[in-house]
Parts: sequence; C-alpha cells; structure tokens
Amino acid sequence: MAVEKRLLGRTELEVTPLGLGCWQFSGGRGLIGGFWEALPQERVVGVVEAALAGGMNWFDTAEAYGWGASEEALSAALKTLGKKPGEVVIATKWHPTFRRASSLRTTLEDRLRHLGGFPVDLHQVHHPTSLATVEEEMRVMAGLLREGKIRAVGVSNYTAGMMRRAHQALQKHGLALASNQIRYSLLDRQAERNGVLAAAKELGITIIAYSPLAQGILTARLHADPASIRLRPGPRKWLPRFRERGLARTRPLVEALEEIGRAHGATPGQVALAWVIRFHGPTVVAIPGASRPEQVRENAGALDLALTPRELARLDELSRPFSGL
Ligand SMILES: NC(=O)c1ccc[n+]([C@@H]2O[C@H](COP(=O)([O-])OP(=O)(O)OC[C@H]3O[C@@H](n4cnc5c(N)ncnc54)[C@H](OP(=O)(O)O)[C@@H]3O)[C@@H](O)[C@H]2O)c1
Repeated sequence: MAVEKRLLGRTELEVTPLGLGCWQFSGGRGLIGGFWEALPQERVVGVVEAALAGGMNWFDTAEAYGWGASEEALSAALKTLGKKPGEVVIATKWHPTFRRASSLRTTLEDRLRHLGGFPVDLHQVHHPTSLATVEEEMRVMAGLLREGKIRAVGVSNYTAGMMRRAHQALQKHGLALASNQIRYSLLDRQAERNGVLAAAKELGITIIAYSPLAQGILTARLHADPASIRLRPGPRKWLPRFRERGLARTRPLVEALEEIGRAHGATPGQVALAWVIRFHGPTVVAIPGASRPEQVRENAGALDLALTPRELARLDELSRPFSGL
C-alpha cells in the first residue's frame, strides 16, 4: 500500500506523516548528543533501512546532534543503502545559541559537508535563543531559499507569536514558513492551549511533532519494567516522568493505549503515534526517534493504523490531565 504524503506547509516538499528523528545518531557527542547512547554505524544503517522499508521518506537531524555526527551517520547510512540525493527529504537545523543571523549562511556549508552530498531540503532554526531577531534570521533564510541552497524554511520551539513573525517576514519576500517543530504527544499537548496549533492551522504551517512517544513512555515498555530505565544511558532516568511515581500517573493512559491497540492488533506505541498524526488532520506530522531497527519497524506500522473517531476522542479525554488541558 502506498504511504500517504503530505505537503510540508505551503511548499512543494512531500513528506510521509512519520519521518525518522535522528538525534539518536549523535554518537553520544556533546551535551545534547550525550542524551543518547552512541550507536554503532551498523545499527544506524539498520535503523535507517527499517525507516525506508516502513515507508518513511524523510529524516530530521541537526547541527547540535553531535556537531555533525548525526548528519554524517545519516548520510553514510543512506549511501550504504544505495539512496541517492533527492530520493529522500532531509531536514536539519541551525544551532542559534550566541550566534547572529549571518551564521545561518556561513554554517550551511558545514551542514552540506556533513551531509556528504545530500541536500538540505528543510532548514530549521533549532530554537528561538540567538543574538538575532526573527526577522533577521528569516531574511537570511529567504536569501538561501531564493538561491536554491535550501528548499524550505522551518523553525523549532517557536511560540505562536514568533512563528507569526517568521511567517510574516518570509511573506515580505513572497515566501512562506513551512513548519514549526515542537514537542507534541499525548503527554505534551501545550500547543493546543498556547496558540501554536491554532496559528499553524490558520497560516498553513505544518507542525512537526518531536518526542511523539514521550521518549519511550508511550510504548508501555517502561510501565512493564520500570527498573529498566536505570540501565539505559543518558539523563532520562532522572526525569520525573520516568520515575516510578511518574509512570504510575501515566499508567491509565498507557492501559488505554494497550486496550485500543488490542482491537487493531497494534502496539501501544503505534496507537500513540497514530493519534498524533491523525487527531489534527494533516497539520501534524511526527518524527519518532529510535535506537534499534525493530523499534522503527514497529513505529512505521502506525502509518496505516486507522483509529476510529471514538478512539481518538477517548485518548483526547484521557490525556488532557497530563497536558493541563
Ligand atoms: N527540535 C527540538 O528541539 C527537538 C527536541 C527533541 C527531539 N527532536 C527530534 O525529534 C526526534 C524524536 O524525539 P525523541 O527522540 O526526543 O523522542 P521519541 O521519538 O518520543 O522517543 C524516542 C525513544 O523512544 C524509544 N522508542 C522508540 N520507538 C520505540 C519502540 N517501538 N519500542 C520501544 N521503545 C521505543 C527509544 O528509546 P531507547 O533508545 O531508550 O530504546 C527511542 O530512542 C529526535 O530524534 C529529534 O530528531 C527535536
């Protein structure tokens, strides 16, 4: 069955409702990359292969994911698998901290070098904290877009107000903001009350949901074996949600995911991902990350999982208390 594709914002870029998050390919490097264990390259190839086989056509990486390590691992894996530039969609991100807008242009060459011949299809500002204004950043992005150096402009972790400013700044150049990448899952629904989702729908901007599995919580794996998180590298084990009390709070929601999953022959994680990419229609796409090929195989199964309106509504109700809705 052909996998559905959606236009990213009002651009010509077509993406599947699920892409692969590549933060996990950071090689354990740096403060941000060190969040995950360093994966051997054969594992990265296996993960990317599973994403492609499962129908995903795009990959989300970033400068800050090991300072080029993730981009390099992704590009090497795509080459190993015989993929050519242009056959998949690549999204990466500029790291704005302590930088001026001009660095968007000067660091693009680094992005392209690390991507080893694959293009930057979507270039995103990773977060709003820089030395530049939104308008200055978008002026540089507009230049890169007009020169054909990138194919679409996105932002990440932007408030509704900043997203509108970015969109307006691009509109002055006859362009449009393609996407805002934000944390969004059944446990993180702040975008529904802070205006981000409403503004995205109004302006035709795609929301790219990161951490759509709440970093593993919504797979039910940790509820089944709460002690296992202590064996995983990285700081998740210290986060309140991953501790036993946090897991106890989310257990009713996870049990509902299990119950709904049983009716479809699906896993709780697949149900959680299907909810994210269906509840708001085509506006929200998601980029689950993975450290093993079998996780991606499972996650890709959410692409053709059709939840009923009643199931979508039940999960909406049940998840509200966790998101302050
Ligand atoms: N723009 C931003 O500021 C920002 C921030 C965060 C993330 N992101 C992007 O979003 C992507 C996804 O977010 P995320 O990695 O934070 O969270 P996520 O996708 O919710 O969770 C990924 C983790 O969940 C576990 N997992 C995934 N599939 C599983 C399965 N089928 N069964 C059991 N466990 C499974 C794995 O944990 P283990 O590795 O422990 O097995 C995996 O590493 C990242 O890769 C990155 O590209 C962007």
